[in-house]
Amino acid sequence: AKKFTVSSFQKAKKDGEKISMLTAYDYSTAKLLDEAGADSLLVGDSLGMVMLGYENTLQVTVDDMIHHIKAVSRGVKRAMVVGDMPFLSYHICVEESVRNAGRLIQEGGAHVVKLEGGRDVIDHVKAIVKAQIPVIGHLGLTPQSINMFGGFKVQGKSEEAARKILEDALLLQEAGVFSLVLECIPEKLAKLITEKLDIPTIGIGAGKYCDGQVLVTQDMLGMYTDFTPKFVKKYDNLNESIVAATKKYIEEINTGVFPSKEHTFKIDDEVIQKLY
Ligand code: KIV
Ligand code: NA
Repeated sequence: AKKFTVSSFQKAKKDGEKISMLTAYDYSTAKLLDEAGADSLLVGDSLGMVMLGYENTLQVTVDDMIHHIKAVSRGVKRAMVVGDMPFLSYHICVEESVRNAGRLIQEGGAHVVKLEGGRDVIDHVKAIVKAQIPVIGHLGLTPQSINMFGGFKVQGKSEEAARKILEDALLLQEAGVFSLVLECIPEKLAKLITEKLDIPTIGIGAGKYCDGQVLVTQDMLGMYTDFTPKFVKKYDNLNESIVAATKKYIEEINTGVFPSKEHTFKIDDEVIQKLY
């Protein structure tokens, strides 16, 4: 199938076709999601929580990201691979930001990068885009700011907060981002932003008017059960299947049902006899 690229994003918005994005952190899952037709796979820094068991995303490093982006890239034929820039990798100075974005592309194999924030990161966005690396913005509930927000909660409900998100969205577009993730903001605010922007918005907990949607795959499949936000729809309950299959495996080992003949290798009796 034809690769889903930056121009496919623009075309989708122009044609009114929705963009589907999911997170992926490993080769075999990425392969399945790509084959199923997801337009874009985000190697999110949410891997810190989902894959590594951290409490939030703040401990994830650029090296962690590269490790997982490499795995995902090897599993993908069509989808756009988005490399998430982790905390502190695009805040120090623009030189470091370009270097780190470049590493996700050059060492990891990502096609584009994503980073959180508005007015505070504009210079960094411009520098990365200038290095020919396409950037996706991310506004609203930006998990790397959890200690500033004081928890995971809906953003942009007051006039002041909503205006700030709208202004940041316009600033990011001007700085050259080709798409914008809107996380956990009221639906009507996401609708307004989506209408004001020429670039496609990708919503997560931002309602149906966004140009595309993204979810954490393990949330969507019902595999990650530590914490489930209101905006997650579970399309399966894989945690139940995994636990049930594991119990059956253990039981079959204990009862000698597994391994049976079909899973076992043979040797000629004459050969083995000589060893007795
Ligand atoms: O890290 C992540 O998974 C994300 C999405 C939730 C947008 O940034
Ligand atoms: Na993220």
